[in-house]
Amino acid sequence: MKSRTLKTCVGLVLLAALAPIPAMVGAQDTSTPAVGALESRLDDERTLFAATISDTPPDDDLLELGRLVAMGGAENVGSGMACITCHGGQGAGDGSGAFPRLAGLPGWYSYKQLNDYASGDRPNEVMTGIAQRLTEREREAVATYYAVVQAPIHRPLGEVDQGLMQWGGQLAAVGSAEKGIPACVNCHGPQGTGNPPSVPYLAGQYANYMAYQLQLWKDGVRDNDPMDVMSAIAEKMSAEDMRAVSEYYRRVENPETTGE
Ligand code: HEC
Ligand code: HEC
Repeated sequence: MKSRTLKTCVGLVLLAALAPIPAMVGAQDTSTPAVGALESRLDDERTLFAATISDTPPDDDLLELGRLVAMGGAENVGSGMACITCHGGQGAGDGSGAFPRLAGLPGWYSYKQLNDYASGDRPNEVMTGIAQRLTEREREAVATYYAVVQAPIHRPLGEVDQGLMQWGGQLAAVGSAEKGIPACVNCHGPQGTGNPPSVPYLAGQYANYMAYQLQLWKDGVRDNDPMDVMSAIAEKMSAEDMRAVSEYYRRVENPETTGE
């Protein structure tokens, strides 16, 4: 556990230290001064990391609180709205793609998103208010809860143009030298299953949701990506590129989050 934790975290530190994009991948430079700061952060957020990248089961009380928040039964009413109303009973969304899948997202990533919604770095009419009404501990708890939840991926997936799928697969695997788009697999993992704790999975996520997020980054609305990695990429993508890569990833299997 320890070495994997450190490895993924060093990647995170480099992100923060304005390293060029390719340097993030598999970076191992443990001499960066920021590693010390990172280790103390790990201590604080042990539980979130446990729900993300280690075999140590997260704290039962925290998980139970997370479950209550998700179901809308937290003692102080949580956000006032059960997450399952929109994100589905098991965090699998409702098939429409209006609401992202939360099941199996890295705990640290979801926790950061809730903080970003609350602070306005990721403004959203619905989620900003919900996140603001959650306490610190509830954000941590519900993020931890969804990290360990598994849920099947909604099917059927619908017909998609084969040419579009091929282009999407190419962007994912090698990017586009011509347009200056890096391969998504560099950070999101060879199968798109993510790179915890900071990089979410794309495999099995809703295409409408993903394409919309890329557009929000391009438009400068979602402004919460470390080092502007995603906005720099989205800027170079056309609407068709976004649709292609999103439809592609929607159809990639993600056994880690489905338990299948
Ligand atoms: C009324 C519907 C609604 C409810 C209730 C709701 N959400 Fe959301 N959630 C959304 C929508 C819509 C988005 C996508 C917003 C965007 O574009 O950023 C979202 C996005 C998210 C994301 C970002 C996921 C990602 O992949 O980046 C997280 C995390 C999240 N919600 C957690 C929660 C939690 C935890 C609760 C309960 C406390 C909750 N949501 C309740 C509608 C809802
Ligand atoms: C240099 C690393 C890197 C590369 C390359 C990269 N991403 Fe990302 N991506 C990230 C990080 C980090 C995040 C999380 C940002 C945050 O904290 O909100 C992210 C988040 C996302 C999200 C939001 C997911 C969600 O649940 O809200 C989408 C969609 C996405 N990336 C698509 C892509 C696509 C498509 C490509 C390839 C064209 C790509 N990414 C390439 C690092 C990368």
